[in-house]
Amino acid sequence: MADPIVSDEIKKIIAECNEAKKFAYCPYSNFRVGAALLTTDGQIITGCNIENASYTLGVCAERCAIFKAVSEGHTSFKAIAVASDVKDEFISPCGACRQVMFEFGGKDMKVYLTKPDHSFRVTSNKELLPDGFDSSVLDMVRTKVLP
Ligand code: THU
Repeated sequence: MADPIVSDEIKKIIAECNEAKKFAYCPYSNFRVGAALLTTDGQIITGCNIENASYTLGVCAERCAIFKAVSEGHTSFKAIAVASDVKDEFISPCGACRQVMFEFGGKDMKVYLTKPDHSFRVTSNKELLPDGFDSSVLDMVRTKVLP
């Protein structure tokens, strides 16, 4: 099959997540991950995994990028790209990151799972987290219990 046409924006976030991977702080796992978020107005915000001697306090690259972005006023996203050093598999976000991506990217945000050579598999929040939990469920309960 012919290569799909890949937009410059998507090429750029794939390049940027590989750059962000260089800042990974991962002395415990030695597993570098980078992420690059594309906002709906075309800006790119990156993140990397940041580990801690108190292991459970580490944060993944995807959540690092999303928390950075939200803290800078960005709340609407088109896509996220994720990079690792794994050559034979496309890196795929953990469950916690999928839930956070779902919160801010909605069902339709595109997710580019990449390899170090910049090849990718594209998926979406809804594919990665079918039947994901969102605030609409909270609203249903509130409606029922309030007098
Ligand atoms: N990690 C990420 O940053 N993103 C992923 O999608 C998978 C895992 C990090 C967490 C930890 O620092 C290291 O990779 C090994 O699990």
